[in-house]
Amino acid sequence: MQFEVIAKCHTTKARVSRMTLAHGVTMLPTFMPVATQAAIKGLTPEQVESLGVTLILNNTYHLNLRPGLKVLNEAGGAHKFQGWHRNLLTDSGGFQLVSLSKFTTITEEGALFASPFTGEPTMLTPEESISIQHTIGADIIMQLDDVVSSLTTGPRVGEAMERSVRWLDRCITQHERSGKKDTQNLFAIVQGGLDPELRDRCLEEMIKRRDGVAGYAIGGLSGGEEKDTFWRVIKQCTDKLPEERPRYSMGIGFAEDLVVCVALGVDMADCVFPTRTARFGVALTHKGPLNLKLSKHSKDLRPIDESCPCPTCTDGTSRAILHHNVTHETAAAHAITLHNIVFQAQVMGRGRAAIVEGAFPDYLRTFFANYFGDVG
Ligand code: GUN
Ligand code: ZN
Repeated sequence: MQFEVIAKCHTTKARVSRMTLAHGVTMLPTFMPVATQAAIKGLTPEQVESLGVTLILNNTYHLNLRPGLKVLNEAGGAHKFQGWHRNLLTDSGGFQLVSLSKFTTITEEGALFASPFTGEPTMLTPEESISIQHTIGADIIMQLDDVVSSLTTGPRVGEAMERSVRWLDRCITQHERSGKKDTQNLFAIVQGGLDPELRDRCLEEMIKRRDGVAGYAIGGLSGGEEKDTFWRVIKQCTDKLPEERPRYSMGIGFAEDLVVCVALGVDMADCVFPTRTARFGVALTHKGPLNLKLSKHSKDLRPIDESCPCPTCTDGTSRAILHHNVTHETAAAHAITLHNIVFQAQVMGRGRAAIVEGAFPDYLRTFFANYFGDVG
């Protein structure tokens, strides 16, 4: 990986950088749309690429279950399997195991879960997670981490943080043995819940291992904690993480959170929110979300956003037809998904342009004034 910071904001920690991976250049800060099952639901890879997206996320947990490693191996990796020519990141599987399965038990060896197909006990170890991600062939791969909800308290939070550090060591060893270090890049995931001391200890340990990792993620957030707590943890992490490595806040996707994360020095983020909410009929706009299910849109012939360059807003698709179709016709879900991906890309793209022009604080003010409609 090549990672080069090319512009910095003087009053916040926002920065623009160029990240070059095996499948091209991605300008940061960027938002990564989520293609859990090797597709952004409803869209073709060509459509996604035509929107200007250069980096998407797949999930190791899902791809390992289906289509499985044999198919992925024969296809020559997930890029070829899904027809995606740009950069790809895979999450390691731990988070999905804990959030999707009631029967996951974490042991020192790995995460033990019941196979959703056969019910058989199955173990995902840090070594296996990395080796599955090697077969998938993602440009950025994530360590297996021990994730607890941000609302968990007590000794379990510290235990999960310490284990995530130990698992990072096992992931680094597995990655170094593989001979894939030139084309695939391992990221560490900082854990430690909402506790400043645990976060500090995790930061210290993971920063010591910087030679083994290409970047850092901030995990264990966005689980229902208060916003000011969330900002405090992000800031604590971005204050300490090495400047010359990309920083990725996991599971963040509300536009208002993205712009603050960027101000705090975050370079990458992902979330299912923009694409999932599209399927529920919600279009994201610079003036806030627009719920197209509401009957007030039934006769509205305007596009979602007159100034939006996306295929949906420029091809004559009206709010009225989206309202009409959104509950029973998947074309509406696809049209709103296209729009929402472009919206997220615009929030980040305008942020990058503002940082380069030295106008990022103005961008923040304008963004919030428009999005929440006050005159600040
Ligand atoms: N997705 C959102 N949060 C997390 C996290 O803490 N760890 C992992 N692996 N994935 C996530
Ligand atoms: Zn649009």
